[in-house]
Formats: sequence, C-alpha cells, structure tokens
Amino acid sequence: MVKVIAKPVVFLLCLLPAAYLAYGVYLAFSGGEDLLGPDPAQYLALETGEWAIRFLIASLAITPLRFLLNMPSLFRLRRMIGVYAYFYVCLHLLVFLWFLLGWQWDNIGREIAERPYITIGFSSFVLLTPLAATSFNVAQRKLGRKWKTLHRLTYACVILAVLHVVWIVRSSYFDAVLYGGLALVFLGYRVLRHYSESVRKYAIFG
Ligand code: HEM
Repeated sequence: MVKVIAKPVVFLLCLLPAAYLAYGVYLAFSGGEDLLGPDPAQYLALETGEWAIRFLIASLAITPLRFLLNMPSLFRLRRMIGVYAYFYVCLHLLVFLWFLLGWQWDNIGREIAERPYITIGFSSFVLLTPLAATSFNVAQRKLGRKWKTLHRLTYACVILAVLHVVWIVRSSYFDAVLYGGLALVFLGYRVLRHYSESVRKYAIFG
C-alpha cells in the first residue's frame, strides 16, 4: 500500500514549491498580497535555482540511500526526482529570460558568453536536456546499455551546478558549502562502492 501511494504523494509534494511561486506571481500581477518580497524577480531567480539544485542533489542521493538503507523501492522515485530537477531548472531559465532579461535576445547571448556563472549554469542546463528527454521507459529500452552511460552525465551536471552557485557567492558560503559537500558525499560513495567490496556489502539496515 505504502509503495503504491508513495509515488503520487512524492509527485504532489515536489510540485508544491512551483505552485507556491506561481501563486506569488499571480498575486504580484493582480496587485494582491506580496509573497515575493521587495525584488520579486531576484526572489524567483534564487528560489527556482535553489529548488533545481535541491532536486538534482536529491536525485544523486537516491542510489547511496537505496543501498545504505537497503530500500530497493527508492529507485522507483529516482527518475521522477531527476525530471523535477529539470523542471525547476527550466523555471529558473524562464525567470531569467522573462523577469531578469525581459526577452531581450541580444542580451541573452551576451550574458551567456560573458558572465562565467551564467555560462556554467547554462552548460549544466544543456547537459541535463538529453537526460530529461531520455528519462522515459521507451527511450530507456531503445538505448539499452547506452542509457546508463548517458545518464552518468548527471555527475557533470551536478558539478557544474555547484560551480554556478559557488561563483554567485556574495556574503555567505552556506549554500555553496552545503550543496558542494552533499554532492561530494554522494559522488564519493559511488567511487568507493565501485572500488571496495566492503562498501558494496555495507548497509545500515541489513
Ligand atoms: C539555465 C541556465 C542558468 C541561468 C541563466 C542561471 C541564472 C541564474 C541567476 C541570474 C541567478 C541569480 C544570481 C544573483 O543572485 O544575482 C541564479 C542563481 C542560482 N542558480 Fe542559476 N542559472 C542557470 C542554471 C542553473 C542550474 C542548472 C542550477 C542548478 C541545478 C542553478 C542553481 C542556482 C541557484 C541554487 C542559485 C541561487 C544561488 C544563491 O544562493 O545565491 N542555476 N542563477
């Protein structure tokens, strides 16, 4: 029973931040209560970016948690969480193009080319695109073993996303250290698991 409802419940929970932000935008446009603070565009850019990296790192956490907690059913959530990461990256890009750049196409190319943190963020988005496009059963079946190889690109996407955040740091290093540290732990686990038999066999709940 828990297994059956877990997926739809997680699906709806992952949608909540987007629903909240969409409601905030609706209120801002209709002159209602101010949910997005004094600088709504900046708030939306930061929030969509935060949720994008949280979901990306959560998708990276599934494999270690599945083995350490001995819960194979967690794998059922991995693809959905990965697709949500891409969904929030798309919202983040949309906010950037719409609210920060006002669809000025000539500025968009210049921003991507001249601001290193945007170049890095955009590269992560580009690499995530084929992963999201092939995250469905049909694509997985058609690609066979190549699917797994292709989806190792996730590691590069996470590293680029963390670099993007590190580059933006102004006063507090908290986010950069938190996301960088989590990425290091979850990627490090994979490397250790690959080389060490005892790590492969270890589980907190046997
Ligand atoms: C699609 C290309 C991307 C563009 C154009 C972009 C642009 C931006 C911009 C303009 C900001 C606000 C910077 C500021 O405060 O002045 C930002 C922040 C942020 N972005 Fe991106 N980004 C991109 C991709 C990504 C990706 C792929 C991720 C993660 C998966 C991400 C995560 C974040 C995070 C977490 C922040 C907040 C950083 C902080 O705490 O200050 N971005 N991004």
